[in-house]
Amino acid sequence: MRDSAIPAPVVDLDRVVVTYGGGLFGRGGFQAVKAISLQIAPGQTVGLVGESGSGKTTLGRVCLGLQPLSSGTMRFCGEAFGALRQRRGQLSVVLQHPEWALNPRLRCGRSVEEPLVILGMPAKERRGRVAAMLENVGLDAGFAERFPGQLSGGQRQRVAIARALITEPRFIVFDEAVSALDVSVQAQVLNLIRELQDRHGFGALFISHDLAATRYISHRIAVMYQGEFVEVAEAARFYGTPEHPYSRKLMATIE
Ligand SMILES: Nc1ncnc2c1ncn2[C@@H]1O[C@H](COP(=O)(O)OP(=O)(O)OP(=O)(O)O)[C@@H](O)[C@H]1O
Ligand SMILES: [Mg+2]
Repeated sequence: MRDSAIPAPVVDLDRVVVTYGGGLFGRGGFQAVKAISLQIAPGQTVGLVGESGSGKTTLGRVCLGLQPLSSGTMRFCGEAFGALRQRRGQLSVVLQHPEWALNPRLRCGRSVEEPLVILGMPAKERRGRVAAMLENVGLDAGFAERFPGQLSGGQRQRVAIARALITEPRFIVFDEAVSALDVSVQAQVLNLIRELQDRHGFGALFISHDLAATRYISHRIAVMYQGEFVEVAEAARFYGTPEHPYSRKLMATIE
């Protein structure tokens, strides 16, 4: 039951089913997501863990409004999701390889600026926003002039995060966003995400194979297995006493 004083969740999934392939209404296809319900509040991170192929990325795409649903509903900030173009700038994604988000031929400043161009923001305003955002992610202004190939992996991921955040989205999916970074850089980027969330208040879905990273960043944890949630719990409770046998098995792999 929801308390009316609590703000509307940014993302509200109700019995969402996603089927790949198959005939009418996905009949006979493969159910990658099976009747999942999930709410993510502003300023909160849900960590989504589970083995490869369990449906995590598919569910992330659902939360971004990118995935056609076979059934169920997805609401965004209390409203029906509507047309994707009307949500422009309100949702973002950070992927495992920043190369996928950054055009190698564009200077980093331009890559960060681009979403604002698409939103139609005047050039004068854009420049100030980009400089402030680069500073926000811990890069000095000189990075704006560099190309992605002239940066370290961690620096590139910071640029990708700056690009994801520049429009001040209300919700961000991080899909294996720190998985390709080595451990010390991972910790820096996780800290950065936490800081930025405290400052900007976006809701987030943090998808990862890595339970330790997920623990550090998440308020709640959802464990996915073959398209279903086997456990959803407050992070503190989950890491103390995971209830589902599959969750315990996952936990055993990091101890
Ligand atoms: N476009 C598609 N068409 C058909 N099947 C797909 C498609 N995308 C994903 N699948 C299948 O749906 C299932 C879930 O895929 P998904 O990418 O969501 O898993 P995941 O949990 O993100 O895995 P990983 O941890 O390896 O990234 C997999 O069995 C996958 O093969
Ligand atoms: Mg995936």
